[in-house]
Amino acid sequence: MKAEILPTDTTALFNLAVERAADLLRAGEVVALPTETVYGLAANAFDPQAVERIFRIKGRPAHNPIIVHIVGIEMAKRCVAKWPVVADRLAQAFWPGPLTLVLERSELIPDIVTATGPTVGARWPSHPFIQAVIRRCGFPLAAPSANPSNELSPTNADHVQKKLGNHLRLIVDGGQSQVGIESTVLDLTTSPAKVLRPGIIHGPALSAVTGELAQPEASEGAILKSPGSLPKHYSPRAKMVIWSWTNDAELKNRISALNRPSEAVHVVAHTHIPSREGFARVSVIPHDAEAFARAIYAELHQSDEEGASLIIVEHPPATDEWHAVRDRLKRAAAD
Ligand code: TXA
Ligand code: MG
Repeated sequence: MKAEILPTDTTALFNLAVERAADLLRAGEVVALPTETVYGLAANAFDPQAVERIFRIKGRPAHNPIIVHIVGIEMAKRCVAKWPVVADRLAQAFWPGPLTLVLERSELIPDIVTATGPTVGARWPSHPFIQAVIRRCGFPLAAPSANPSNELSPTNADHVQKKLGNHLRLIVDGGQSQVGIESTVLDLTTSPAKVLRPGIIHGPALSAVTGELAQPEASEGAILKSPGSLPKHYSPRAKMVIWSWTNDAELKNRISALNRPSEAVHVVAHTHIPSREGFARVSVIPHDAEAFARAIYAELHQSDEEGASLIIVEHPPATDEWHAVRDRLKRAAAD
């Protein structure tokens, strides 16, 4: 089996793809859909057998819960037992968008979605395609990122086709994901609320709405409540390091100290751009956290495809805006 890829770049094609995706989803199938963060592997969140297929396709461990994608506050409320005032305020501020709220689950949500836990993660995505599919289906869509477990998240249809195309009937091409990294996951069942996974909507933006936030775990290796927060995740195949350098000579010295062949070295830089000489590839991403987030996974996918043996990423700044980028890079670089 090889997945059919449906384009969405005219109104007619968009509507056709919505109908086709909705038909498959109603029949209990899994389809890959675009969202503004990363591509998702979607199934009817109310149908445990359909969700079971997601776990099989991804090779995802059963203890890792799946985010439920909704459109509108009414649908969110069907998925949760309680809808606190703070959820309303956060939804006002950040939905639709890259924020997942963890709340007490309702009885409509099957065990398999929450990994039998008492909470459910809900997100109203801003991508018009998945919104249209959810509206058409009338049920929420359980959707993890559309990659094999522990690999890099896909930010375009081609990434999905290469990694999971043999296991899917349909991939909808909604263009390059505009956020580029996974949503912020915020747990509202603890007091104060706690960020389980940092994202482009960062701590200061959230606490402007919620007030105090719980401090993130001090220890990097701690087992967190959000299984996606394990140290090793989102990984490319190549060895990856995060370095700072001030000139080419310094960078080259550090590489030669590693004693590796230099012909398969890829550099991803935002501030000190090395000359291309001696590197398989030098990529420049603007020195801007949102632009960097949008581009970084595509860079890592490409490095893997080109057979890079070493990926050197220039250290991102230490500010709040870059927190999520630092988090993903650290996990991708973990041994
Ligand atoms: O941006 C995103 O969130 C993308 C797109 C497709 O929406 N989805 C995504 O899903 O990244 P996934 O499954 O790859 O990551 C979801 C993360 C995991 O770390 C999971 O453990 C956590 O959210 N999560 C989901 N439900 C949870 C819950 N009830 N409590 C705690 N963590 C939860
Ligand atoms: Mg994922």
